[in-house]
Amino acid sequence: MTTVFVFNGPNLNLLGTRKPEVYGTTVLADVEAQCRESAAAHGLALDFRQTNHEGTLVDWIQEAGAAVKRGEALGLVLNAAAYTHTSVALHDAIEGAELPTVEVHISNVHGRETFRHHSYVSPVAAGIVVGFGIGGYALAIDGLVRKFRPLRSV
Ligand code: DQA
Repeated sequence: MTTVFVFNGPNLNLLGTRKPEVYGTTVLADVEAQCRESAAAHGLALDFRQTNHEGTLVDWIQEAGAAVKRGEALGLVLNAAAYTHTSVALHDAIEGAELPTVEVHISNVHGRETFRHHSYVSPVAAGIVVGFGIGGYALAIDGLVRKFRPLRSV
């Protein structure tokens, strides 16, 4: 079964209690459940992870890129959280791995502080989903499938 990766960056382990007025009251396990449902609906296996560490995300992106090259995975849904706005390393990792990546943000980063308006991920992303709450993850999986999965023959 083809895999879809969903990686989450720093502080997203605190979803549900961290700034609920911005990020809502659902927890990361709820996000994982929604992603699992969406992946299953597309006949995909889900590999869902969270880390607070930038280098770990780089390692995981390289791993996901290798899986796509072997034909075992479709691509990545990435909420890099604060590293979105700071990390050249994540930009280079996605570009180097040639990994189909959809950038996701729960909040509308463009309606917030100006330091959240710039993304190092966007230039190397296949698409971007911003501001739809945790529903954005399922939209991103759908987008990956529509853009990268060849149409089934009937
Ligand atoms: C976020 C937006 C980022 O600016 C922030 O640092 C996060 C979460 C979002 O999902 O809205 O941690 O990526």
